[in-house]
Amino acid sequence: MRIGIDQIGFYTPNKYVDMVDLAHARGEDPNKFLIGIGQRQMSVADKTQDAVSMGINATLRYLDQIDKDKVGLLIFGTESSVDQSKSASLFVKSALHLRPEVRTFEVKEACFGLTAALMTARDFVRVHPDQTAIVIGSDIARYGVKTPGEVTQGAGSISLLVKSEPRILSLNDGHSAYSEDINDFWRPNDSAVAKVDGKYSTQVYLDFFKKTFDAYKEQKDWSTRDFSALIYHLPFTKQGLKANRLAIEDQDDVTKDRLSETFEASKQLSMRVGNIYTASLYMSLLSLLENYDLEPNSLIGLFSYGSGAMAEFFSGNVVDGYKEWINPKGDAALLDDRQRLTVEEYEKVFTEALEPVANNREFTSDERQGVWYFAGVKNDIRQYRQV
Ligand code: CAA
Repeated sequence: MRIGIDQIGFYTPNKYVDMVDLAHARGEDPNKFLIGIGQRQMSVADKTQDAVSMGINATLRYLDQIDKDKVGLLIFGTESSVDQSKSASLFVKSALHLRPEVRTFEVKEACFGLTAALMTARDFVRVHPDQTAIVIGSDIARYGVKTPGEVTQGAGSISLLVKSEPRILSLNDGHSAYSEDINDFWRPNDSAVAKVDGKYSTQVYLDFFKKTFDAYKEQKDWSTRDFSALIYHLPFTKQGLKANRLAIEDQDDVTKDRLSETFEASKQLSMRVGNIYTASLYMSLLSLLENYDLEPNSLIGLFSYGSGAMAEFFSGNVVDGYKEWINPKGDAALLDDRQRLTVEEYEKVFTEALEPVANNREFTSDERQGVWYFAGVKNDIRQYRQV
């Protein structure tokens, strides 16, 4: 039985900052951000969008096309959690009217969270082939105004439907994992922004990629040229480019050209959205599917990295006819319809979103009709509403 990704829903908030504007404001050469970091724009979440609302909005992109009664598992991966106890997935389950019998919880291991959820869902569907699973990654990457990490912020969510006989990507058995207790990037409970040892984090990412990619190829007895595409967790696209260069440096020209072209396709969404932590690898997958024509059964290698640090390499095969089940026009519209903020406006929105939310204060949203948002706290309980 094949098990894998049957639907992909994407959401990013309706505001962004252009990297050229940011570079000018920070006294940097724009090419540092555009080429050196590899980012063009970054989505900005105002105080009315959080991990929960973005996760609802991503899932709503495909919810009307699935049988809700078959959903037996809902897992929410995030490092932008809104509560220390209650799972973000319960707010989502309620907004989407999923049945009470669904098993639902939240997972955390930095940007690895959605991969952990996906692998759990794969195993769940193997045991319950008549049921499906929704797994969501949803995050706001915040390093702070005028920090080196500022250019690598972003906000958004990806939601995946996992089922038997999937229509987009069939996941292969096996994986190679590697973990170490290190301090490259973390966010203490009392901090709204991440702490990061930036240069160190970029080195560890590459080191973990090499380890897991080599171990995976050995386990499967495959070589780099067997892959039609390699995709990566993209904290910023230059990081993935460096990993891809490592992957192809000793390959023949045909393999080099193919894996360079597919990497270009996979980074298009990330260049305009920024880092969305848990969902970032899966936004690369969506971008590849939308911007490249893959033959049926093409082998895709996926590298997942979560700081702290936990990495995993795994693979899947593209299903014939996959293009029917994605929505590039809808995704492009989400990006094109965003409001371009000046750097001053972005700083204000950013700062406001970090302020403690007073009890019994209601927020309104400037999102388009149908979008869910965080409407404030009433009697200490978070409220979510639809525009
Ligand atoms: N034209 C072209 N390129 C230029 C340039 C110019 N005018 N000026 C500088 N550059 C290049 C530099 O040469 C450098 O390229 P290389 O990396 O190829 O050497 C690149 O631009 C960046 O320059 P710096 O190294 O000087 O940048 P920086 O010190 O300001 O910070 C950073 C870069 C460390 C990535 C920082 O943005 C950061 O801390 N980001 C957050 C951490 C992060 O994303 N880490 C990734 C791995 S961890 C992970 O993956 C989990 C996660 O999601 C966070």
